[in-house]
Amino acid sequence: GSGKFFVGGNWKCNGTKDSITKLVSDLNSAKLETDVDVVVSPPFVYLDQVTASLTSRIEVSAQNSWIGKGGAFTGEISVEQLKDIGCKWVILGHSERRHIIGEDDQFIGKKAAYALNEGLGVIACIGELLEEREAGKTFDVCFRQLKAFADVVPSWDNIVIAYEPVWAIGTGKVATPQQAQEVHVAVRDWLKKNVSEEVASKTRIIYGGSVNGSNCAELAKQEDIDGFLVGGASLKGPEFATIVNSVT
Ligand code: G3H
Repeated sequence: GSGKFFVGGNWKCNGTKDSITKLVSDLNSAKLETDVDVVVSPPFVYLDQVTASLTSRIEVSAQNSWIGKGGAFTGEISVEQLKDIGCKWVILGHSERRHIIGEDDQFIGKKAAYALNEGLGVIACIGELLEEREAGKTFDVCFRQLKAFADVVPSWDNIVIAYEPVWAIGTGKVATPQQAQEVHVAVRDWLKKNVSEEVASKTRIIYGGSVNGSNCAELAKQEDIDGFLVGGASLKGPEFATIVNSVT
């Protein structure tokens, strides 16, 4: 693998003040392996509550950010505001925003470039739909999405790539360790050819899609799986800790 193991918990549009207070307290008392970067991503409205109450051992990410400086953009949240409340990361290009909200590669690229230029880390998500996999287009789709990031980002120092096959997200149908490893190798190879050897070897490529406490260990053993982006299972503190601690 490359670099330090990285595990992100994407809480998506879930939680209440009460459930999040409980989750934060479970995370604060969890025993987490030291050699893992751990990040959680609460919904915007709870970011301030979480940054104020969560142990500094765990960093906080937003689930989206605006393409540029804040201003007259009703309903949007700016990178400046995220930094102001202590947020260190933002998830961009998530399949739910690509396919449900309709964000395209260029729009996502703009957001990534702006966030990185302002000093936020970016969890850059890529991944194919089931029909794209069945049509043999998995690599084409992932490379196209990667290129949209590569074309605009100022540097790869602060980027973690999350490979999330859309058919595996929230479905309980996790990719096999071999399926995930195959794409991670292809992504690393693409970085080597299109960015640089150094970026290819340093950039963490994490897997997301139905990761849980029972399947994480096998996935974590794969050479090119450098961590996870966890949805559903990140809403349970003890199970999320198990996934963090699957570092090999
Ligand atoms: O960002 C997280 C992924 O979309 C995975 O979600 O673990 O609920 O399948 P999931």
